[in-house]
Amino acid sequence: MIVTIDGPAGAGKSSASRALAARLGFRFLDTGAMYRAVTLAAVRRGVDLEDEEALAAVAADVEITLDGARVLLNGEDVTRAVRTFEITTATRYAADNAAVRARLVEWQREWANETDVVAEGRDQSTVVFPHAECKIFLTASEGVRAERRFLDLVARGEHVTRHEVLEKQQQRDSRDCTRTHGPLVKAPDAIEVSTDGLSPAAVVDRLLEIVERCR
Ligand code: C5P
Repeated sequence: MIVTIDGPAGAGKSSASRALAARLGFRFLDTGAMYRAVTLAAVRRGVDLEDEEALAAVAADVEITLDGARVLLNGEDVTRAVRTFEITTATRYAADNAAVRARLVEWQREWANETDVVAEGRDQSTVVFPHAECKIFLTASEGVRAERRFLDLVARGEHVTRHEVLEKQQQRDSRDCTRTHGPLVKAPDAIEVSTDGLSPAAVVDRLLEIVERCR
């Protein structure tokens, strides 16, 4: 079975999708982590992120493993390193790069061939798995999403302001929704869930109910 969960940054998708996958006993595909890992590899190699071919060459060359909650880049645990503000902001180059997307989409489909998955991202319901049995669009209001992101970054020891986080989120939303390849759009057959005012546990319960109805 394929469950897809798409939505904007900060809607609480990652933690809810991970918990849902654990409850179902499915594999969790954190596809945002893959775009982040390609970006981290490119930054470390000193690759110009605007050089589309060079960035695509990095994507073709790296080995990304999603191991439970851990993200491995060529075997190294980069779970924390891919979530810094710097990498989050720079990930737009990988996300806008058609060749990088093609490579990562291929990988995502291969993984889903092997087992039941909960696949989370922006284009999972529309581009990667248009035939998924269960599609969810997880969202929240802009202010709630920015506040969550801000608190998360501060907890990680980053020096950011609320204003800066909101501004970057607005830029990311706009790019995510307007990109040529794999834009964030709600699939017509996706069920929309707003996480505003819901506790993390209540979100997972709601998602489980939806999946059970799709089975
Ligand atoms: O979900 P997360 O915030 O980790 O994603 C990081 C970035 O990767 C997002 O801003 C988005 O632009 C991009 N992304 C994407 N397609 C996906 C998942 C993430 O373009 N399937």
